[in-house]
Amino acid sequence: MAKILIATEKPFAAIAVKGIRDVIEKAEFEPVLLEKYTEKAQLLEAVKDAEALIVRSDIVDAEVLKAAKQLKIVVRAGAGYDNVDLDTATAQHVCVMNTPGQNSNAVAELAFGLLVYAVRNFYNGTSGTELKGKKLGILAYGNVGRNVARIAKGFGMEVYAYDAYCPSTIIESEGVKPVESTEELFKISQVVSLHIPATPETKGSIGFKLIQSMPKGAILLNTARKEVIDEEGLQKAFAERPDFKYLSDVKPSIDEELKANYGERYFSTPKKIGAQTAEANINAGIAAAEQIVDFLKNGNQKYRVNK
Ligand code: 3PG
Repeated sequence: MAKILIATEKPFAAIAVKGIRDVIEKAEFEPVLLEKYTEKAQLLEAVKDAEALIVRSDIVDAEVLKAAKQLKIVVRAGAGYDNVDLDTATAQHVCVMNTPGQNSNAVAELAFGLLVYAVRNFYNGTSGTELKGKKLGILAYGNVGRNVARIAKGFGMEVYAYDAYCPSTIIESEGVKPVESTEELFKISQVVSLHIPATPETKGSIGFKLIQSMPKGAILLNTARKEVIDEEGLQKAFAERPDFKYLSDVKPSIDEELKANYGERYFSTPKKIGAQTAEANINAGIAAAEQIVDFLKNGNQKYRVNK
């Protein structure tokens, strides 16, 4: 019976694990759970005889892939697959998939959790501001960006978006104003919410110049990836703009420093929690299990992300 390993350093909700197990067992495969592991060695051992692997942000590098001699497929239960070494996977004939859209509402809702906290001055009792009528810029109009736009309209915000790959006609058709560049988006938006993946093009792409160009009372939200931030530029922005706030679900390397110096304008979650809801866990986890079953039984590669 093919073994399907669910390796999650940050576990799914129990109800999601049950759903994943049910899908796998119904298809007559064997689910094996490795949760909250603390050493890479535990993953290397567990993956040895697995034919399929479900992960979240767990690192699936060349060492893991090489230890997994029976592996045919890895599904990242979520959107970003920058934690998986795609080249090695391809070289080893391992199919890599993600589960696009399955956890995007959870991430978008958290962006607003952070945003309300920011405009109400971190709930410190002083007079804050409202979101109604403010300009929100969404950087990358994918599944999360779209959900952010939907929620922003409920708050009465003016919503703008830039996406290098999504035609502006699509953005426009959803009642969002498309702009021509990242630079333009930052220039007009009091709030910018980042939803770009971490790629060679985006890494370190959000820095001082962009932040500096934002209107007064600028707020930058990052529920995407820490790597997209130019941390030196971020630090400079904090030093030079006393009105600037940065709220992040993905801790920068300079987290402690920012907390110590700019604690009234900087917030980061203790652990990445954007997709950490029962619903998102159920959606992404079960989709991952179903995609694996469909791949192993029927060869369906619909959500494949490596070549
Ligand atoms: C994603 O890329 O799907 C999100 O960053 C969620 O990551 P997580 O599964 O580690 O919470």
